[in-house]
Amino acid sequence: MLADAVEALTAAGVDSPQPDARWLLAHALRVDVGRLILVDEVDETALRRFRDDVARRAAREPLQHILGRVGFGADTAAIDLRVGPGVFVPRPETELLLQWAVATAPRGALVADLCSGSGALALGLATARPDVRVLAVELFDDARTWLRRNAAAQPVPVATRVAVVAADVTDPGGLAAAIAAQAGPTGWPVDAALDLVVANPPYVPELTDGTPTPISPEVAADPHRAVFAGADGMAVITPMLQSVRALGRPGTALGVEHDDATGPAVAAAMDAAGFAAIEPHDDLAGAQRFTTAVQG
Ligand SMILES: C[S@@+](CC[C@H](N)C(=O)[O-])C[C@H]1O[C@@H](n2cnc3c(N)ncnc32)[C@H](O)[C@@H]1O
Repeated sequence: MLADAVEALTAAGVDSPQPDARWLLAHALRVDVGRLILVDEVDETALRRFRDDVARRAAREPLQHILGRVGFGADTAAIDLRVGPGVFVPRPETELLLQWAVATAPRGALVADLCSGSGALALGLATARPDVRVLAVELFDDARTWLRRNAAAQPVPVATRVAVVAADVTDPGGLAAAIAAQAGPTGWPVDAALDLVVANPPYVPELTDGTPTPISPEVAADPHRAVFAGADGMAVITPMLQSVRALGRPGTALGVEHDDATGPAVAAAMDAAGFAAIEPHDDLAGAQRFTTAVQG
């Protein structure tokens, strides 16, 4: 069964046919992928489910949409997130920004995760750091539905330290007002300046000559507004820095993920917005993936 599935997924151009086939089989059998070896029998229902799911994956539906979930983060920050149409599927490279945030947040920090999507950074950080409170800011309703669901699915001590905020991160006044309005329902104070801001905003530069930007079918399944940010990839990042300034204080730490081609532009925008100690960070493939700074 696995060999047939791997063959079908390979023929369909799937990047990782072996692991995907194993994940789909484990999903069909309702077992952890590590326990596949222990399964002796596959009943008709599971077999049908597996074949259907392999067909969906061969049609290039994202693996995480078929499974309905994705694991994100490592060690103490490891979490399980529900994902599907309408929300960006968190990517492994963002785990590096999470690691940085876990190590950087001052004790008792008030943190904002701007452009929170499924809540990957907000919930990972709140899980790893029981002393921090996190504002998870997301503009779009469908993504925010997944975010609220993921926040509510966390253990109570984590869920109660994450407040979901509906706001546009490029509008400093609107964002400040939306955060202030959170103080009532969540019960904890948000009148202090932010100590740390993390953001994985839309950042892929878009072709402007009318030809569609070449992306894989899996990336095309993410909402367009979650991925693309104008011709230079900076349409959200540049105005978002003004929001960070407005909500931060001298010393507020900032980490922003970006396109591998826009590291210098992000550093220049941070410098122009009054941030110091600007430092690029590479991903595991050696590409510049996120930049950190401190508010001056
Ligand atoms: C690349 S996704 C990242 C999601 C999540 N932080 C992660 O790492 O998986 C960017 C997210 O920003 C949201 N977004 C786009 N423009 C926004 C804006 N102006 N204000 C707030 N959220 C925005 C999108 O809906 C999407 O959920």
